[in-house]
Amino acid sequence: MSGNCSQLMVRVLSGSRCSMSTVVWSFVGFLLMLHLYSLFSHKDATSGEIQLQVTNHPSFRELVEVEEENIQIPPPRGKRSPRAAKRRPKRTTTLIDEFLDENSQLRHVFFPDMKTAIDPMKDNGNDSFYYYPGRIWLDTEGAPIQAHGGGILYDERSRTYYWYGEYKDGPTYHAHKKAAARVDIIGAGCYSSKDLWTWKNEGIVLAAEETNETHDLYKLNVLERPKVIYNENTGKYVMWMHIDDCNYTKAGVGVAISDYPTGPFDYLYSMRPHGFESRDMTLFKDDDGVAYLIYSSEDNSELHIGPLTPDYLDVSNVVRRILIGEHREAPALFKHQGTYYMITSGCTGWAPNEALVHAAESVMGPWETMGNPCIGGNKIFRQTTFFSQSTYVIPLPGLPGSYIFMADRWNPADLRDSRYVWLPLIVGGPADRPLEYNFGFPLWSRVSIYWHKKWKLPSRWTG
Ligand code: GAL
Repeated sequence: MSGNCSQLMVRVLSGSRCSMSTVVWSFVGFLLMLHLYSLFSHKDATSGEIQLQVTNHPSFRELVEVEEENIQIPPPRGKRSPRAAKRRPKRTTTLIDEFLDENSQLRHVFFPDMKTAIDPMKDNGNDSFYYYPGRIWLDTEGAPIQAHGGGILYDERSRTYYWYGEYKDGPTYHAHKKAAARVDIIGAGCYSSKDLWTWKNEGIVLAAEETNETHDLYKLNVLERPKVIYNENTGKYVMWMHIDDCNYTKAGVGVAISDYPTGPFDYLYSMRPHGFESRDMTLFKDDDGVAYLIYSSEDNSELHIGPLTPDYLDVSNVVRRILIGEHREAPALFKHQGTYYMITSGCTGWAPNEALVHAAESVMGPWETMGNPCIGGNKIFRQTTFFSQSTYVIPLPGLPGSYIFMADRWNPADLRDSRYVWLPLIVGGPADRPLEYNFGFPLWSRVSIYWHKKWKLPSRWTG
């Protein structure tokens, strides 16, 4: 009886094992097929012409064109002495060397002169509304825009865009031999626009302190990357910014408020958020009105993110360490279809480096690094974020999945002459760096920033 029973049991078990293994193998087969599919579709996306599956809408076509650049490095000037040649093996000059060399013959390629400036006030004919990344960009009074390390606030009430940034129209110098190039604080500048192309100077909305040496805004200190958000509950415009001394050892964040987007802003205080160092930073206001501070910390080796208090005047006691050990800075956050994305740069001071894009299901993380979003130009353009550094990503309501990537092409020899690199950023298509834990299936969409020598927004944006 017990023998029969155990035989029956074995048969039942083996029967179920057989069907179980069929199920398991079918599942594995299915996963394999999906994996292969994702690999091939990924390959398609990286080889040759990039086909975006996001949309075939005519508005996008121009934005996602892939433009190539072919810049020849000029032959070295003068001869090296035979002794010098012996001492040090000849290092090949890279385009980054040329970019950083203020006497380079290629200077005009990276920093074209006033003759080519974008001047929205002149009769531009067919050239109206075109962005030319890297060219001098004039405001409505004909002066170069001074809003470096900036960010954009769209003010619903006045239906106007405000561009805030570092007003750096002063001489560049080094506080001491080892210090980074700097310009004394002049203040945070503000420009207004209806079309994101024609900018009116609204003046310095938060000014430097000229005499009081103990003040955070004392001109010999540092004010960088000002960002402004509007608080619906208090009706105040709130500015947060990186506050530092000329050696970047204070590593704090400052807060200022105003009743108007055009200021003047009242400076409140600075702090080390959550007790941590804070250097490059940005703000992100979510759809639910909760705003977050994101900052480089622990010697810029990681980023921290935490919600602000409901009045946006302080951080709350919640904070997460993210991208630990990845050494990222210049964060710029945006949200697309419920997923959070962030562009960051590496930490090489004013010198350009490779951008990376990160994604998260929840703004507090975990954040995953997806790869370099830059497309077009040439390899060195892509490895240097088109010779610029991220500062902000502007959403374009009405064009879902499309954004403007805002970056600074720093000119460390003359910081006031740093340029703006604005390029189309599109979310869509399979991601570059699929994650390990999801069997290689791209969980996030690809974020692509397309190089263009000149480009413009679809006409509904430009009126
Ligand atoms: C960069 C930073 C800039 C500025 C600069 C000073 O790393 O992104 O905002 O602080 O260093 O060298």
